[in-house]
Amino acid sequence: MITLGIETSCDETALCLLETQGDEYKIIANIVHSQIELHKEYGGVFPMLAKREHIKNLPILYKKLLEEAKITETEINAIAVTQGPGLEPALWTGIVFAKELGKKLSVPVIPVNHMEGHIVSTLLKNSLSSLNFEKLKPLEFPSLALLISGGHTEIVMIKDLGNYKILGRTMDDAVGEAFDKTARMLGLPYPGGPEISKMAEEARKINLPKTISLPRPMIHSKNMDFSFSGLKTAVLYTIKEIGELSENQKREICWEFEDAVTEVLVSKVRKALEENEYKILIIGGGVVANRHIRKAFESLAKECDVPLYLPADGLTGDNALMIALAGSLRKNSDTNFNDDFKADGNLSLNSSRKDN
Ligand code: KG4
Ligand code: ZN
Repeated sequence: MITLGIETSCDETALCLLETQGDEYKIIANIVHSQIELHKEYGGVFPMLAKREHIKNLPILYKKLLEEAKITETEINAIAVTQGPGLEPALWTGIVFAKELGKKLSVPVIPVNHMEGHIVSTLLKNSLSSLNFEKLKPLEFPSLALLISGGHTEIVMIKDLGNYKILGRTMDDAVGEAFDKTARMLGLPYPGGPEISKMAEEARKINLPKTISLPRPMIHSKNMDFSFSGLKTAVLYTIKEIGELSENQKREICWEFEDAVTEVLVSKVRKALEENEYKILIIGGGVVANRHIRKAFESLAKECDVPLYLPADGLTGDNALMIALAGSLRKNSDTNFNDDFKADGNLSLNSSRKDN
């Protein structure tokens, strides 16, 4: 059975063909086309530009995908497409493309929650280049997921695939957004996450003395919610106070910012792990590309004696493999799909399944 995955929720146009045999999976072809260079001059993703680019790129990338896969489209058995959350004009482009293709090929079109995609992306083993069929890492329930991306920051109890309880979320900026906005204040290019992380790494390497201290917002609050806008404002005040920043002062701010974010994330997840017994800890989303954050969660998982699932390199950011996988896992348990769904920019994990 072959599932085509389509992802257009933000600034990546991504397509993937995933083959399933029983409970084993094989990636036949996987393409991620990033629009980052186009959005850089706006300092963030410009939705109507993203929409235009997706519309232009989808047919071209689809043709390329079939060529790479060396299959004909009649071999596709199902289409999984991101329904939300994300930028609605961008989401619609993938959905319209999927529905038209679904009609043409007479195959079901499965709506996928992008955040569920980030969760299941961690089930793929690291041997992604392998062309062999592979089993997924086992998922047991309840598991705990921390999802950290450009648009979302949430702690989720996974009771079953498709059955989620959000334990905490950000009250304002998402973690990735805080990285991006802070980078902008420091004059670093978009997306800011990798830039801040690089500068912070340099600060640690050259053993800069730490003279700046930033707040750890909501670290002592009893709930599992987050807030990152105060941290961003604290960076702004720090910059104003210093005036012209030297490269080392920029490095120091990045270092302290990354430490502050990491400590808050780790402390909230520790709290969740202490409150309930979880079988697996999952960290998903674009910000998981951050080495410092990964390492911090590796230590926490060891300390709390819980298996840790992280996405493989190359699978942290948005991709269609995670959408194809989420769709095919859904297809195994639910065959009743009608393509009467709409893009939903605010789609929540709480509402991702009809039995919720
Ligand atoms: O999941 P993702 O690719 O897109 C969304 O669904 O939002 O996440 C993108 C976010 C951006 O904010 C980007 O700055 C952040 O992930 N990011 C990072 C790193 N690499 C990407 N943040 C911190 N450290 C990184 N190394
Ligand atoms: Zn994402």
